[in-house]
This record gives sequence, structure tokens and C-alpha cells, in this order.
Amino acid sequence: MGIENTSDCHVLVIGSGGAGIRAAVEAENFGETIIVSKTITGKGGCTVMAEGGINAVLKDTDSIQAHFEDTMSGGAYLNDEDLVRTLTSEVPDRIRDLFTWGAVFDLAKDNCIAQRPFGGQRCARTCYAGDHTGHEIVMTLLEKLRSSSVTIENEVTVLDLLSDGEKVNGAITCDREGNLGLITADAVILATGGAGQVYDTTTNSTAGTGDGYALGYRAGAQLIDMEQVQFHPTGAVTPYDSRGRLITEAVRGEGGVLKNALGERFMEKYDPKRMELSTRDVVSRSIATEVLEGRDTEHGGVWLDVSHLPREQIESRLPIMLNQFLQFGVDIRTQPMEVAPTAHHFMGGLKITPDTLTTVPHLFAAGEVAGGVHGGNRLGGNALAETQVFGRRAGLSAGKCKRTARNIDDKQIKAAEDKLNSFYKGSTKTADVRQSMKMIMWNNVGIYRNELDLRVAERGIEKLQNTPLKISSSRELSDAVITENMLLVAKLVIEGALLRRESRGAHTRTDVKQTWTNADSPFGHTFFVKGKSGIEILENRL
Ligand code: FUM
Repeated sequence: MGIENTSDCHVLVIGSGGAGIRAAVEAENFGETIIVSKTITGKGGCTVMAEGGINAVLKDTDSIQAHFEDTMSGGAYLNDEDLVRTLTSEVPDRIRDLFTWGAVFDLAKDNCIAQRPFGGQRCARTCYAGDHTGHEIVMTLLEKLRSSSVTIENEVTVLDLLSDGEKVNGAITCDREGNLGLITADAVILATGGAGQVYDTTTNSTAGTGDGYALGYRAGAQLIDMEQVQFHPTGAVTPYDSRGRLITEAVRGEGGVLKNALGERFMEKYDPKRMELSTRDVVSRSIATEVLEGRDTEHGGVWLDVSHLPREQIESRLPIMLNQFLQFGVDIRTQPMEVAPTAHHFMGGLKITPDTLTTVPHLFAAGEVAGGVHGGNRLGGNALAETQVFGRRAGLSAGKCKRTARNIDDKQIKAAEDKLNSFYKGSTKTADVRQSMKMIMWNNVGIYRNELDLRVAERGIEKLQNTPLKISSSRELSDAVITENMLLVAKLVIEGALLRRESRGAHTRTDVKQTWTNADSPFGHTFFVKGKSGIEILENRL
């Protein structure tokens, strides 16, 4: 096998979504910067698919304190307060960056950036470009990237991070032909996004495989709250191949209403004040309850209806939704959409400081791969905000890392080669293992959880982890590595769900009775470091 390609840089950014590109744009001011993307920079990842918008306080009628409070209460008070302060206070400037760089946000009548209401927020705070906000942001960032000196290595998978024993100093990679590479660096930024693909039904692109969680974990970094997986309330349920596809919260922000198969506007029962614009954890649980109690539609969902809205509003504000449903044979101007919850966002991830430093020196993390910003439940519109605020911070922090001598540990390279070679002797195809994992997670680690199901899932995933993966050509090496990453992430989600014996945010334990509210829970973060896991107990609250 052997190393075929080597390169060296000051900052290595792994991942090419909104956080990764934003980080690279900032880091290149300090020295040579490389982006490694397992997809095509700007095409893979979830940012480009994000539809509804990005939250920022832009008006005097709103306040940073209100954005902070909404984010904390929406996150079931599991959020890291310092991270939330950073997010909410800096995002207005990051919107100004995007605007200055040419992002075309929709404007209101006064020619200021328009803002729409999103769930769990006391005022209209979500800036948008129709229902293709993420695409607009990524196109803007790509323009910035084009005029920079950042080197892009597309379709390259990172196998493992390199370490000199004290700090990370690069990565071992594998290209689509299966050639091994080595990239050395003074600092590494993980911006690899989330892991919705460990579930059968998800809004995530095929790139949402959670590689950064696994890379960070294997490098010794601490992860937190991996059990906190957000199920977006509204994913497509039909046609079968489109199940899980995002039906943006903007549909409800524009006035869309949810009804069960009996025609009842059921959110009246669950959150009469906020109705469809309740937080996502509440809306998803409400839909799941309607379905479980038999008031579901033909394909196991509920109705989302905008047919009462003016046609012009639907056509101008929700053009992607309109066209997507026309392809499905549904005209949303006159007919309701059939929707159900779908795995969407990982609130947990690598523990970071506000400067995005993980618990491993010279390793930084930004975007969905980092944990703590959103607590137990993310507000719609806060993910794009996170990519810009913490992407920039990661670029700055990594850029400021000292230049150091390169000490490469040959043992790490040998271990990577041995691992890859072992895949030629395996027994089971990666696609089969992934499908089994997705079903285990979907059936047992979904919206409603209990110990019995979680133990079933734990045994199932452990069995898959012990199943030797088989490949028949070097082109499948990346697939095998990514499948192992996904299984590790699935295991961490299950372990976290077992550890958190309470219902909090997106994590609902039907088998645990509790007397506390989110604000006075005796539990803090679940945590995972190689060989160790647990949950913080807040002694003064017991
Ligand atoms: O519903 C949406 O448009 C998704 C937005 C988000 O997850 O922030």
C-alpha cells in the first residue's frame, strides 16, 4: 500500500460545508490552508441543502438577550451558556459579512433584510433567501474561496488524525482510487457536519455520516450529549425514495398548519400558545403521538397545509417546496403535504470552548460536529448561524497556532495500512451493514426511547461492529472506513440515551418518571472520551 501523496500546510480544514469554508476563508490569512472534502466542496454537506433561514438580531424591536433566552429555553437549558452568548452576540456581524460578500437575502418593504418567524422564537428573527438560504450562503462563501489561496482536495476521505503525542499534527487520507495520503499541519479544524445518515429516514445528504465525531473520539477528544438527536417535524413521507426529505420549517413560518387524518389541528392539544411554531422537539413528539394513536394519514404522517395562503406568497417564498411537491404530484397551492418527523441534526458533538478548541491541543471543531451550542434541542435557523460564527472563530484560532516541527509517528501510518488491508479479508458488504444499522437506529433509538429498545439497539450495533467489513476493490476503502465511523457514532448515541435517565429536549425516555423541569434537572452533559463515559450530576440539585 504505502503513502502515495503528501502535502503540508499551516491549517488543515476537514469538511467543506458552511463552517469549513468559513473557517478556511479566515485561516488563510495566517498561512497555507487546505480543505479536505470527501465530497465536492460546496456540493456535499448539509449547509447547501438548508432551506429556511439563519437567525440574527437585526432590529431594535428584538434583542441579543432575547435570542440568548430563546436558544437556552429551546435547548432545554442543556446548552453551554458561553457558546450561546458567543453565537447570539456575533451572528449579526456574520450576516453583515455575507451581505457584504454578495449574499442575496430577501428584503422587506423598507429594503432591510426580511425576517420570518421560526419555532420557539418570540419574534421574526430568521433571515432568508426564499427557501434556499443555505444554497445562497454556500454560493457566496465559494466566491470568497475562489479568490483565496486555499487549496482544495475533493473526494478525499480522512482515515484518522495524526498526533505527535501532545497535539494533532495532520491526517492520513485516502482518495477515491484508494491511494493513501498524508497531510501535515500545525492545526486541524473538524467541520464535518452531523450524522443523520445513521438513521433510516433523514434530511441529511449522503455525506452526513458523522466522520468528525469518530475522528475526534479516536484522537482522544471529549464528546458530549450524543443522545440529543433532533427529529425535524416535517419530512416527506412519499414517494418512498424521497422519504425524510426536508419540508422546511419556513412552511409553518409562513403560516402553514398541521392537521391529523381527522382534520384536527392537533397542536392545540400540545402547545396551544405556540401551535405549529412550537420548538421542534415538541412538534415532532406531537406528530409521533398522533401517528402512534392512529390518527395518521395513509403513509403514516400528518397533513401540513398552506392552501389558505395567497398563491403569490407560496410562489415567492416557498418556490422549492412548490416545485418539489409538483414533482410528487401535489400542488401545495390547493392541496396539503403529507409529512412526518425525520432525523435532522445532532445537538451533541465535540466539546469546545468559545474559541472552538476541543479537549485535544491544536484540534478545533465548528458547526454540527461540535456540541453544546444547542443543548437538547436546536432552534430552526440557529445551525446556519453556528456555521458562520464558529467557522470564523475556528479559522482564527487555528490560524494563531504556533508553527511546530513535524514529528510523524510511523506506527500510526502502519496501523492505517493494516486496517485498510483487513477490509479485503472481511465477510459482509458495507451497504448491508449500513442498512441494518439504519433500521436498528430508526426502530429503537427514535423520538420515544426506553431501556429495553436501547439495549436491543446496543446489542445490534455491537454485533455489526464485530462483523468484518468486506470490500472488493480499493475504490470501496473509503466506504468501509466511513461505515466504521457510523457504527461508532450510533454506539455513542445509544450509550448517551442509556445514560440520560430523564426526558430532556429531543431525548424522551418513556420508561423514566421525573419530578424536575428542564431548568432544574440534576443532570448536566453526558460525556464520552475513549474508554470512558458518564453523565454529569449536579449535586446541589439532587
Ligand atoms: O426547516 C428548515 O428550513 C431547517 C432549518 C434548520 O434546520 O435550521
